[in-house]
Amino acid sequence: MNERTEQIVNALRSVLEPVRKIDIITLRMLRDLRVDAQGGIHMNIYIPGKAYSEQAVLYQRIHEALAAIFPQATVHVHFINSMPSAEAPNLTVPQISNIIAVASGKGGVGKSTISASLASALIRAGYRVGLMDADLYGPSIPAMFGIVGQKPAVTHDGPTPKLVPIQTGRLHIVSLGNIIDPEQAVVLRGPRLAAIIKQFFNDTAWPPLDYLVVDLPPGTGDIQLTLVQTIPLTGVVMVTTPQEIAYIDAIKAANMFQMEQIAVPVLGVIENMSWFEPPELPGKRYYLFGQGAGARLADYTQTTLLGQLPIVEEHRMSMDTGQALSDGLRLNDDFDRIASLLIKKVDLRNAIFSPGLAVQVQS
Ligand SMILES: Nc1ncnc2c1ncn2[C@@H]1O[C@H](COP(=O)(O)OP(=O)(O)OP(=O)(O)O)[C@@H](O)[C@H]1O
Ligand SMILES: [Mg+2]
Repeated sequence: MNERTEQIVNALRSVLEPVRKIDIITLRMLRDLRVDAQGGIHMNIYIPGKAYSEQAVLYQRIHEALAAIFPQATVHVHFINSMPSAEAPNLTVPQISNIIAVASGKGGVGKSTISASLASALIRAGYRVGLMDADLYGPSIPAMFGIVGQKPAVTHDGPTPKLVPIQTGRLHIVSLGNIIDPEQAVVLRGPRLAAIIKQFFNDTAWPPLDYLVVDLPPGTGDIQLTLVQTIPLTGVVMVTTPQEIAYIDAIKAANMFQMEQIAVPVLGVIENMSWFEPPELPGKRYYLFGQGAGARLADYTQTTLLGQLPIVEEHRMSMDTGQALSDGLRLNDDFDRIASLLIKKVDLRNAIFSPGLAVQVQS
């Protein structure tokens, strides 16, 4: 995702679809965007069906928007009938627009905290959001939202019974922590874990969602592999702490997602526990875990450092006491900024790639 494609996507945000009067990026009509060696711009525009009559208007608006920034470029717009993703038959969860996994190499770097806080930030931004706790060994999401001990309902509306995500505020949550006794989770092994992850998608009645955030366990085990094989992930956010050792482990995890057969794009990097600033010494930062891993990992994965989060005791306490959805948490502003950057990356990713397809990995 180089600078030029980013500029193109930003310019095309001004192109409104004439019927719905929403821009073509938000509507995910733009796909397969590519700039050739001569600077020619190529794209597919997905239109709702054969009866659609606004191609000419869209064609003109796209050309005008791009001529304003790249007057010399030739622009090739190809219209394709039928919208992607929602109708694509191999998607098991067509009602979920974007599925974003939060991953890391090392344990304890803050994935669950970040998944929960990002989900809350996306809710504040007005999106329909779900949170899936895929850390089946040590589910920590229920505690962060104060829903420990609650059991999800089962609906018999369809041909097969389905799990109903637990709703708290406007957030929809599925976690093994709400289904079995947490102590039982530790004895789960590979095939069983894979079956549960599949059920979390196929046998769960997810409502229509703009974003589903998936909190992963650390590393590159069965759960990660099942996830990339089961569903079309939009992308992954890598979390690291600032020190060298975390960077080395994070690269291994990033490499797994970027393997050719898997090819899940890294949407960005979040560096957590970057420094500690004592409340009584404003401006004085202590870099307890060293510095630099976030920027280096962003560099390595050719993505952006979406943000650096300080160590904040009150944030930890709020999360430990089930207040992840509260307004006014100390790190909420940081997470709002990170969420808005992430949304831009997701839009860009959706413009460049065809709709995500679950990969087939031989194992
Ligand atoms: N920025 C922060 N400031 C203060 N405490 C934090 C911060 N980020 C995370 N923590 C705390 O660090 C601990 C580990 O965080 P968390 O459980 O989110 O990590 P994790 O990567 O999900 O761990 P695991 O690999 O075990 O799943 C938690 O107690 C959490 O509250
Ligand atoms: Mg965790």
